[in-house]
Amino acid sequence: MAPMPTRNISIRPEAPGDEDAIDTVVRDAFMQQFGSDSEVGLVRTLRSRGELVGDLTLVAEVDDTIVGFIAFSEVTLDGVCAGGLGLAPVAVAPAFQSDGIGGALITASLERAAAAGGWSFVVLLGHDHYYPRFGFVPAAPLGLIGDYGAGASWMARPLNGLPLPAGHVRYSSAFTDPSA
Ligand SMILES: CC(C)(COP(=O)(O)OP(=O)(O)OC[C@H]1O[C@@H](n2cnc3c(N)ncnc32)[C@H](O)[C@@H]1OP(=O)(O)O)[C@@H](O)C(=O)NCCC(=O)NCCS
Repeated sequence: MAPMPTRNISIRPEAPGDEDAIDTVVRDAFMQQFGSDSEVGLVRTLRSRGELVGDLTLVAEVDDTIVGFIAFSEVTLDGVCAGGLGLAPVAVAPAFQSDGIGGALITASLERAAAAGGWSFVVLLGHDHYYPRFGFVPAAPLGLIGDYGAGASWMARPLNGLPLPAGHVRYSSAFTDPSA
């Protein structure tokens, strides 16, 4: 189970005016973890192209300050839209990590995706220690193939009890060529 946040957080969809604060959270989280801020450009590109799924792309606030962010964009399955979502990125400001905020964002967005209807599965590339608690399982052994290898970090989760499909998942070209 994800830890329950000990802070008083609120979660809402991102809104115009949040962009700079989101950049800061994503930059700080990814620089600390991976030494790269390329996810900032990815988020900007997805947003400018209208490829962020609005109802599911959420911010977490503590005392009216944005400290967490989660984004979703549609993925294709064998080249067609099939109700697939890519979860990327999720970030929590370093000073606020390991307090349940990332888990709260993931749980809230998955609940929203299930309730929205039309979405049937979610994929992500992430740490295999963290995401199983939210229902994610290794995707490659089930025949769900991505472009980022077949290791345990390539994961998928069905929505609304639907079976996970097999096929080749492809993210938006923003993931491989943010300038295109
Ligand atoms: C990953 C992240 C979003 C989790 O948010 P969070 O608010 O710290 O997470 P929670 O408090 O809900 O959960 C804490 C758990 O996540 C684990 N965790 C946090 N970051 C992790 C990471 N990068 N890899 C593996 N596990 C991680 C913690 O060890 C802890 O595990 P435990 O419950 O077994 O002790 C956040 O740590 C972050 O922004 N990391 C840097 C960016 C990143 O790696 N994003 C994900 C890329 S797929």
